[in-house]
Amino acid sequence: MNKKPRLPWLLPMFPTIRRPNMTQFSPLVGVRMTGSGAATPERILTNDQLAQMVETNDDWIRSRTGIRERRLVSNSRESVASLATLAAQRAIAQAGITAEDLDLIILATSTTDDLFGTATQVQARLGAQRAVAFDLVAACSGFVFGLVTASQYIHTGAFRNVLLIGADVLSRWVDWGDRRTCILFGDGAGAVVLQAGDRNQILGWELRSDGQGHGLLNIAYSTEQQRFEPITMNGQEVYRFAVRCVPDVIAKALHRAEHAIGEVDWLILHQANQRIIDAVVDRLHLPPERAISNMATYGNTSAASIPIALAEWVDSGKILPGHLIVASGFGAGLSWGAVVWRWG
Ligand code: UT7
Repeated sequence: MNKKPRLPWLLPMFPTIRRPNMTQFSPLVGVRMTGSGAATPERILTNDQLAQMVETNDDWIRSRTGIRERRLVSNSRESVASLATLAAQRAIAQAGITAEDLDLIILATSTTDDLFGTATQVQARLGAQRAVAFDLVAACSGFVFGLVTASQYIHTGAFRNVLLIGADVLSRWVDWGDRRTCILFGDGAGAVVLQAGDRNQILGWELRSDGQGHGLLNIAYSTEQQRFEPITMNGQEVYRFAVRCVPDVIAKALHRAEHAIGEVDWLILHQANQRIIDAVVDRLHLPPERAISNMATYGNTSAASIPIALAEWVDSGKILPGHLIVASGFGAGLSWGAVVWRWG
């Protein structure tokens, strides 16, 4: 039997559904970011301690990266799930909701505790019984990709309360004998709560991928060894890619948000290298004091670096409700992107 399609019948009643060019700028439901939180391991590894493990020194690491120390998981209780849960609890408390209110949990991580995913462990630890939970893998761009993904679920009206976590434990995947990479990374987690609201505060974004650069930064599975290899990276190429592509993607996201760079209160770049932050700030002609930097204390925490920095600046009262923030993540994939939003 030939059934007539029912949707066209309904469309005149819901004009917004018909809009063929519906973009990120005309969402059905607004999104607000209402809470943030961070968690980092207790153990600190300083540059001087690293210099006892590989041929390096504090001066080289500081001048080439801006990193002084990093925090690493050090016992069986600390994991992606434990750090993610702690950061999430802080974000949920700041948002003034409870775990039972959550509809969705997205965990951005590339260093999962379990290849089948870690998000459901976090859901169970939080007691977020109603929430559906899944992992999202986009390396150091994970938080930015996750923020755009989470926002879509709210914009469409599918969910009202979403928890987004960026958490990584790259210390498990570092070759601690390779001085080109082991000096860079640290472990940690950061989280935000996103909620449906009358006014939309997620104002513009731009996401990019380029698989041609896939070989520049990897934790690859070796079929010969039948296990994953430690991190390998072409540092100079990744550096060049970041300095070339990040200003461009930020400019595009700002354009979509209909804001100028001069209106930005805070720039939160993925905390990979202070020299990258300085170069991007320079290219954007942004006053340097508006660029958030905490990599001296944490190193590169991958998907966690942006939300950890956000939470620290919110908790210290520097980021205030209404402030305009632009964040940009970049890294393996290659992947990169930027999001513009107003806090609170
Ligand atoms: O989150 C993912 C994104 N990742 C990134 O953004 C990383 C981007 N890249 C970087 O941050 C930089 O490329 C690094 C910090 C990784 C390296 O800095 P660089 O200025 O590009 O150094 P380089 O690789 O050109 O090495 C310069 C020299 C070399 O010695 P020679 O060949 O000139 O004799 C290296 O062997 O520095 C040497 N070197 C070190 N020396 C002391 C490399 N690593 C070290 C070290 N300590 N840890």
